[in-house]
This record gives sequence, C-alpha cells and structure tokens, in this order.
Amino acid sequence: MKILVLMGGTSAERDVSLVSGEAIVKALRSAGHSVIALDTVQSQKLLPDHGKYLPDGIGEEPPDVAELEIKGKQLALEAIHSFDFSEVDVVFLALHGGQGEDGTIQALLDLTGKPYTGSGVLASALAMNKAMSKKIFERERILTPEWFVPEKSEFSNIPLILEKIHKSFGLPCVVKPNDQGSSVGLTIVEEEQDITKALHDALKYSDHIIIEKFISGREVTVGVLGDLALPVVEIIPEHGIYDYECKYTHGRSNYVCPAQIPPKKAKEIQSIGLKAFKALGCEDYARVDFRYGEDGHFYCLEVNTLPGMTDTSLVPKAAEAVGIDFPKLVEKIVRLALKRKS
Ligand SMILES: Nc1ncnc2c1ncn2[C@@H]1O[C@H](COP(=O)(O)OP(=O)(O)O)[C@@H](O)[C@H]1O
Ligand SMILES: [Mg+2]
Repeated sequence: MKILVLMGGTSAERDVSLVSGEAIVKALRSAGHSVIALDTVQSQKLLPDHGKYLPDGIGEEPPDVAELEIKGKQLALEAIHSFDFSEVDVVFLALHGGQGEDGTIQALLDLTGKPYTGSGVLASALAMNKAMSKKIFERERILTPEWFVPEKSEFSNIPLILEKIHKSFGLPCVVKPNDQGSSVGLTIVEEEQDITKALHDALKYSDHIIIEKFISGREVTVGVLGDLALPVVEIIPEHGIYDYECKYTHGRSNYVCPAQIPPKKAKEIQSIGLKAFKALGCEDYARVDFRYGEDGHFYCLEVNTLPGMTDTSLVPKAAEAVGIDFPKLVEKIVRLALKRKS
C-alpha cells in the first residue's frame, strides 16, 4: 500500500509525535509498504528511505508552544491542502495532541475522502476535551474523579477558586489544561499557596482549565484495539506522578504488564476501558487512563484517541503482551482504518 504518515504538528506533543512517527514509518516500510512521512507544520517530507530521521529523541520538557503557535496552523492547512492525496491509499496519524488529535485534522482528511487511522471528528473532539468526556462518563456511569471547570473570569479570583475546591473535594487537587495531553501544564496542588502558579502553568497551554479531586492510588491504563481491551498496564513513575519527564525519559518509570492486580479487577477495568471507548464513539484504537484508587475503585481520567507509539509507549507494550509486536500492531491499525471506510 501507499501510506501517508502525518507527524509533528503544532502541539506541545510535537516531539513525541515525531518519535512515534519515526517508529511507525519504519514498521510500515519493513512490512513492504511505500510510505511518505509529512510534518504538518513544515509541509516537508521527512524520513526519506535512506537517511537520518529528524528527532533526537524527546527532551525532558515539551517544546515552546508559543513558538509553535506562530509557525502555525496555516502551515498545517497548506501542508494538507497541497498534498496530492490521490497518491495514497490511507493516512496514518502519528500526531498527538492539539489539532492533530482534536478532530481538526480529521475533518480536513474527511474532506479529502481518504481513510485515516483512529477516531473520527466527533470522538476525537470529545476525547480531547476532558470536561466533555467526563460528562459522558457520568451519563454512562463510568466513575471519574470529581471535578469542576472554573470560568475564565474566575481565574484571577484565587479566593473564589479555593472556596470552590474546598466545597467540592478539598486538597490535594489536580489542576490541568482541559484539552492537552502528556501531562503538560499539570500540577498536583497540595497547599493553597500553590494554586496561583498551578493555574498559571495550565494557562500556558490552554484557555480552559479543569480542577479535579486528587485520587491517591495506582496509575493504570487500558489500551483498546478494535473491539478488544488489551492487558492492563501499571505505571510506576519515579516522580510519583506520571509527568512529562516520566512519560518520555527512559528509566524514569517502571511498567508492569499485565499489571499485578487481581484477575477480577483486571477484567473490570478492561470492560470499563471498552465502555469509555465506546461511550465517546472512538474507533480503531485508543488508550484509556485510570487511577486505581486506594478505595479499590477505578477512576477514569481520559481517553487518548491517538496514544503514543514510541518505544516507551503503553499501547505497544500492552499489545506485545498478547503477542502483537509493533509492526503487527501498526499493520492492524491500518487494516482497521481501511475496513471502516470501505
Ligand atoms: N485526578 C487525579 N488524581 C491523581 N492523579 C492524577 C489525576 N489527574 C491526573 N493525574 C496524574 O497526571 C497524569 C496525566 O493526567 P491525565 O488526566 O491523564 O492527562 P494527560 O492528557 O496530560 O495525560 C495522570 O496519568 C496521573 O499521573
Ligand atoms: Mg493521560
């Protein structure tokens, strides 16, 4: 097949996407496909058959989003607009976060009529928006940490925000951008005095903030592939919280797959994972993030519709545990996309 891999993009997860993209391109090429890799920002074809790939790995911090913003969205539009889609059979989305994962690029691709991997416009948009996802989880009786979304006009009214936190669930709480990934702009707030900085850090990445009850417990995630929930992965991050650095720096987290939890609990979380996937209308594959609370309940945090595909990534690890190696996983995702669109 002729496959276009879209990667890079303008989001804070750009570097991660370049590394995912590189792994995907290699896997598809090793399976004999003809692959074109395109960075949606630079409108540049990357990764020629022979030659060095772009990224030097993922740094300890996300790239400067303000700078990416300036390079911008227009370039992404141009990259897609100027590309001759008649050249390809299917588009593989190695983008993460921002417009690559929130339905925007998906909408542009819908206009080209070419099949692409992963969820469509609506599911992508819902999943990228944590508050919207949680409204749906609640409707479906999927347990999710208590939360509220402060109004923009309230951001500078710290006493009011603190009052809301204390009335709802108290400290510690989690302050995060409502529509980002990779833990960027996220803070666990333990003391009242830390709230101002937490809001400031979240606002660097988004105009919308969500404040959640902190769920103390374990970090677990469930990958979904087609209509199958993959084995549960437990993450033991060095920093206690699964922040950007622990996500992408080798050795900063330990991963246990299948997670050491009772088989009954594993079945339970897998079925909640599938339910969350379906509730948002996701397709092909995704990863559902949870906290396994000390109270024995699973709290669904979010669904990632374009989860990481780097070599520290979780869906590839979970797939491996059921005998689906990385090239097979990538191939399967392509087949799912083609099947859906045919
Ligand atoms: N309510 C919470 N309670 C405890 N830890 C949390 C909570 N929300 C987020 N976290 C921590 O932050 C990480 C990232 O949060 P998540 O909601 O999955 O957003 P992202 O889209 O950035 O991955 C989680 O994997 C977890 O370690
Ligand atoms: Mg997450």
